[in-house]
Amino acid sequence: MPFSAVGDRVEVRPPTLADVEAYREAVTRSHHRLADFAVPDPENLPAIVASQSAVYRSFMVWSRDPGREHGLVGRVNVANVVRGSFRSATMGYDAYDPYAGTGLFAEGLRLVVGLLFAPEPEGMALHRVEANIQPVNGRSAGLARSLGFVHEGFSRDYLHIPGPDGRRDWRDHDRYTMLATDWPAEPYRPHPRRRTAVLVSGLPGAGKARVATALAAELGLPLLSADAVKVGVAGSSPPDVVGVGETLWRLLADSPVGAVVDGPWQARDADHVQRGLTAAGFDPASVPEVHCDLTCVDTAGPLALGPVVTVDTREPLTPRQLVAVALRARVASSSP
Ligand SMILES: CC(C)(COP(=O)(O)OP(=O)(O)OC[C@H]1O[C@@H](n2cnc3c(N)ncnc32)[C@H](O)[C@@H]1OP(=O)(O)O)[C@@H](O)C(=O)NCCC(=O)NCCS
Repeated sequence: MPFSAVGDRVEVRPPTLADVEAYREAVTRSHHRLADFAVPDPENLPAIVASQSAVYRSFMVWSRDPGREHGLVGRVNVANVVRGSFRSATMGYDAYDPYAGTGLFAEGLRLVVGLLFAPEPEGMALHRVEANIQPVNGRSAGLARSLGFVHEGFSRDYLHIPGPDGRRDWRDHDRYTMLATDWPAEPYRPHPRRRTAVLVSGLPGAGKARVATALAAELGLPLLSADAVKVGVAGSSPPDVVGVGETLWRLLADSPVGAVVDGPWQARDADHVQRGLTAAGFDPASVPEVHCDLTCVDTAGPLALGPVVTVDTREPLTPRQLVAVALRARVASSSP
């Protein structure tokens, strides 16, 4: 049967009207837990059966050895199915008492994800599935990570649903994703994040700190500041450019997302910076440099190892200028 799979302890199949009684009992018994994150309705299975289509599918997870229990381990809904060059969907799920917390639902969800990526007509031939999870829902996030989903992003006020306070409201959600090319995935695998580095250069007093701080906020990257490092480097007056730099490169190397690096370098430090960026895992030719030029007669000039964006810091950057600089840095760091 399409959209069905059998595992060691559970099996998965589409909902039918024969499931109504077990579903009513399962949802009623689990109401106290489900109500933290959804609006459980023990009577809505007929509506769910009627709405099955190519853009909305449900999967019921059944225990293969239910004993005297109702047998329904959980339900997975796959909605917002978009085909074409997207082949993506969103996934929601509930585990029911007395099976929640026993690992049975995880086994079922693994079978479902396999069906989402399996070729048609047995599966849905998707490329990508996402699970949106409230940050306070550690159990659901732990389950997603146990299947190898990775945290891809954060969506503000994403769904109008209850949270643990029982009130319906717009709730922030974290986005966890899986791609067909990742599947079958290693449990709890690390997230291969994209790393971005941006250098901020300029003569002392050129306003680098202000620009670097604003850029880090706009780009959502950590800020690595030579001034902050200098405070902790003994005997660094006059500044030990190499010592401060080495510390910055080691911090950059350890950052999983990269950073905005505000350093004291001048054009003559190009070799040192080139080595540091390379050691931190970046190709210096693709690291954008935002060069702060206070006077517009900056004879030192930028390092120019990669693309240079020069900003005139005689006046504070306007929000529009800041965004333009950040976008130029983003474009430069994304260029092949
Ligand atoms: C979220 C929910 C479906 C999880 O079901 P469950 O039955 O607890 O899941 P399982 O027992 O099968 O858990 C399996 C895996 O998740 C992991 N996990 C569960 N809770 C965890 C936590 N708090 N932190 C880390 N990992 C956790 C388990 O360790 C296990 O992985 P392992 O086999 O590697 O140890 C269930 O708690 C539920 O119905 N919650 C209410 C509704 C809900 O939140 N729906 C999802 C909305 S996004």
